[in-house]
Order: sequence, then structure tokens, then C-alpha cells
Amino acid sequence: MKINGEPTRTIRLHPESPGIVQVIDQRQLPHQLTWMDLTSVDEAAYAIKDMVVRGAPLIGATAGMGMYLAALEAVSAQDFRRFLEQAAQTLGQTRPTAVNLHWALNSQIQVLQQAATPSEAVDRLRQNAEDILDADEEQCRQIGLHGLSLIEEIYARTGQTVNILTHCNAGWLACVDWGTATSPMYQAHDRGIPLHVWVDETRPRNQGAKLTAWELGQHGVPHTVIPDNAGGHLMQHGQVDLVIVGTDRTTRQGDVANKIGTYLKALAAYDNGVPFYVALPSSTLDWALRDGVREIPIEQRSQEEVKYMDGLSPHGVTSVLICPESSPAANYGFDVTPARLVTGLITERGICPASETGLLSLFPEQAAS
Ligand code: MRU
Repeated sequence: MKINGEPTRTIRLHPESPGIVQVIDQRQLPHQLTWMDLTSVDEAAYAIKDMVVRGAPLIGATAGMGMYLAALEAVSAQDFRRFLEQAAQTLGQTRPTAVNLHWALNSQIQVLQQAATPSEAVDRLRQNAEDILDADEEQCRQIGLHGLSLIEEIYARTGQTVNILTHCNAGWLACVDWGTATSPMYQAHDRGIPLHVWVDETRPRNQGAKLTAWELGQHGVPHTVIPDNAGGHLMQHGQVDLVIVGTDRTTRQGDVANKIGTYLKALAAYDNGVPFYVALPSSTLDWALRDGVREIPIEQRSQEEVKYMDGLSPHGVTSVLICPESSPAANYGFDVTPARLVTGLITERGICPASETGLLSLFPEQAAS
């Protein structure tokens, strides 16, 4: 997507120094656009854990690149294979919910098995990391084209601006390009369909207010930031035509883990007959799990993220305490929306019901998995 009119991916190899991976430091947005250089597996792990990068597909892409950085380091290690296996473990422990992390690491471990020498490992892991980035971009583009049909259908029926609600940031900042939930929005906007996006602020880290609002604005998509509690009211008053969110892990039966608060939006959408779609690349599907509420690991993050908020003041970006210092806080990062509340899943292969039968109709090769 574009930053100041320039097509930009969220992660890239340094143009002059391919031993460096560059990522946008998302902790600084929307107030500052800065790139961070990653030069080692530990720096890649830090970037994921501290949420310099975040969003399921980008976590996977960064882990893939982290394995390439590890391969560069492993050239001088005594046992390069062991070094790389430990690197995969380090990266695998950064964040528990997004399954794309393990998908990318497994892909790199398989590639590693074909490498006979450390320098062959460098070449193969770099190529595979770049392939992961390219595949993610293409899958997100395809998600956009499939999801576009939903927006076109609403516009053809109403002839009015299409109002879409989204939660958290499942945009191009969460991926390599396009985004998942936002990709249909960009495709529709680029085709001249009038649309407007309700952007949930997404407490506690405010990925909606900080990131989704910023990237929609960069692309010229009309949007409004709303407090997390507003969605139900808007739906009751006919101001939401469609909800599209992303996901960090979707099970075989179509249960969807996504940013905390997604479940409440799905309940409100169900109660008001508003279609609720989830957009995802196949790297977000966990075919080994069925019951998402019971089986998906939910990340718990620090109390500080709930108790403090940061924002721009005349003195720069400042953090402020918003509750009594002594009050404890709970910070569950994700929740699970049961498949029965999901109208459909938008994947790179098309749209299907949120069910095992629906998913297998698009991914028949997983029937035996
Ligand atoms: O904690 P985050 O910011 O990594 O959570 C991100 C989300 O919940 C996104 O909606 C999800 O990863 C889908 S990204 C296309």
C-alpha cells in the first residue's frame, strides 16, 4: 500500500545491505514513521515480542526473516543446525496465539533439512523467507478480490455508501501488503465504490485508532474512529452494513481467535442481522484444533498496557496512568468467536461457511490432516 504516495511493504531486506531486515516500528505510529533494522535472531524475536511488528501474517513473515538472520549468524557457529533449531525455539516462544508464527517456522525448518552446508542454509532460508513475503502479499490481494464481491453486492442493492466496521488492525500493517480485513476495502475504494469504515479503537493498545485509522487515511479511505463500546449501538441503528475482521488462528471447525473484543462485536452483529465476515490467509488456519474456545492459547500481556495510555501532547508522546495505581488490571490479548456467529470466512481461495465442511470445500488437501 502507499505511504505518502509511495508503494511500501511493511518488511523488506535493506536495499544496500541484504544482511539487514527492515521493519516499520509500529509502536511509534501514527505519530512517527520509523524503520527499525534487525540484524540477528534475537532482534527479530524482540521485534515480535515487544510488538514493533504485530498482526498474525507479519509475525509469521518476521519469524521467517528471523530464521534467515539466524542462518547468517550460524555460519560462524560450531553446529549450524543446532544453532538454527535453537533460533526457531526462541522465535516460537515470542507470542502464543498467532499460528502463522509456527507455520513460518515449520516452513523454514523443512527448508533447513535440505541444506548440506551453512552457506546453503543461508541461501535457502533467505529464498524461503522472501517467498513467504511474496505469498502473503498475493494471498491478501486475492482475499481482497473475493471480499470485494460482498461490498459490491451491498452497493448494488442499496446504492448508498457501504458502512463497514472493523476491529483492531487487520490491515497492511499487520501483513506484508494489502491486509486481510482491509484488502476488500482497498479493492472497493480503488474501484470507486463509496465506502466508510468504522474503526474500533481497540483497547488496550489501540491498534484501531493508531494503526488502522492511519493506514486507511494514507490510502484516502473515509473512516471514523469509535470507542470499542459503540459498535452495538451503530448496528441497532442500521449504520453498519458489514463487519470484517482478521484472525490470529482459526480452527478446523471455523472458530476464530482475534483481538480481544471481537467476540462482543460478533454477538452484536448476530443480534442485529449484520453479516460478520473473517478474512484470513490459509497460513492462519490451524487444522490440528477444533474447539477454539477450549484449545486456542490466549496471550496475556502486562497490566501496564491496560493501566497506562500513551498519546501525543504538546511535549511529545506521553504515557499517562488512567486508573488508581494500586488497582490490578487483566490483559487478555485475544478472544474466540465461535463459528456459529461467523457468516463466512474470506480466504485466498474464496469465501466459505465457517465450518469444517466449508473449509474443506476450499482446502480439500487437508481432509486427511
Ligand atoms: O496483538 P496484535 O496487534 O498482534 O493483534 C492483531 C490482531 O488481532 C489482528 O486482527 C490479527 O492478527 C489479524 S491480522 C491480519
